[in-house]
Amino acid sequence: MSLYDAVGGDAAVNAAVDLFYEKVLADPILIPFFEGVNMDGQSAKQKAFFTTIFKGDTAGADAYMRRAHKGLVDNKGLSDPHFNAVAGHLQATLQELEVPADLITQIMGAAAGLKNAVLNR
Ligand code: HEM
Repeated sequence: MSLYDAVGGDAAVNAAVDLFYEKVLADPILIPFFEGVNMDGQSAKQKAFFTTIFKGDTAGADAYMRRAHKGLVDNKGLSDPHFNAVAGHLQATLQELEVPADLITQIMGAAAGLKNAVLNR
């Protein structure tokens, strides 16, 4: 069973992304990064992206994440504290939704694996 099926498929991914974004957008150190971003479009992209990584299809994810966040690194100082804050909100979301601990470990591992790409280093 893929990670995607294990967390509960589409419905679970959608619920997680919605709760995750509530937390991210309420965090003062993250708010400046999302000013002017169309959150409906962003949320749809995140859902598609999480679906892809949960299905285990990580080909191209690194380059995509590098490209998607380069402007934030260059122009807005996106760095470790911001990444760690986002990861913390992801973990809290998964815990709140009662995703089993071993799956949370896998998902957080996948997120950590994208850190250098997101931060363009
Ligand atoms: C593993 C961690 C992360 C993943 C998987 C992720 C995923 C994504 C995806 C899929 C997009 C859409 C890219 C596109 O336009 O096609 C995106 C954009 C964006 N991400 Fe992330 N992201 C991560 C970390 C972060 C962090 C730490 C921040 C910090 C604030 C952040 C802020 C943003 C913003 C503001 C955009 C919109 C950029 C724009 O439209 O101008 N992301 N992210």
